[in-house]
Amino acid sequence: MDCFVAAHQVGAQGRVVGVDMTDPQRTKAERLASSAGFRHVSFLKGYIENVPAPDGGFDVVMSNGVINLSPEKGQVFREAARLLRPGGRLAISDIITEKPLTQAIVCDVTLWASCIGGAAQRQTFHHEIESAGLRILSVKENPEYNFLSESAQWATGEFGVKSVSILATKPS
Ligand SMILES: C[S@@+](CC[C@H](N)C(=O)[O-])C[C@H]1O[C@@H](n2cnc3c(N)ncnc32)[C@H](O)[C@@H]1O
Repeated sequence: MDCFVAAHQVGAQGRVVGVDMTDPQRTKAERLASSAGFRHVSFLKGYIENVPAPDGGFDVVMSNGVINLSPEKGQVFREAARLLRPGGRLAISDIITEKPLTQAIVCDVTLWASCIGGAAQRQTFHHEIESAGLRILSVKENPEYNFLSESAQWATGEFGVKSVSILATKPS
């Protein structure tokens, strides 16, 4: 979805590359791009921890709701920094938590799939972005984002699990 919004932003002279590890998601994205006539959008099979694309090849790296699913968030941000040109921007929306999650939550596969079990604590998340060589420019909470399942809503109240949007830059 985010690739199609980006496709409008960059226009036909720009280029958008989406990455997903699963064949069904990429197949669906390719079908939608083709039916919408987006010839400047392509999709790569890969992991966000190891993206098959060149250093410094991108003006912007975007992600929406995927980083919480990665157990190696530091590596995800180092990879984003590698992909960005100097002065490029990282724009993400994802799930973080104010309090550390218990082992029971972190080991609950249903809560991982609900984008909660893998949520990093706010300070850790910020530290991992900045340790990758990126500078955080803004952090915005998204209070309109609501979790659907009862267990997810409980974790939200108990641990301060929430959606945030973060903009960072790779210094020139
Ligand atoms: C919550 S969805 C994100 C939806 C996406 N933002 C969109 O607009 O369609 C999570 C997606 O991330 C992919 N994913 C999860 N972990 C990944 C990883 N480590 N590397 C690449 N893709 C991953 C999954 O295959 C799934 O398609």
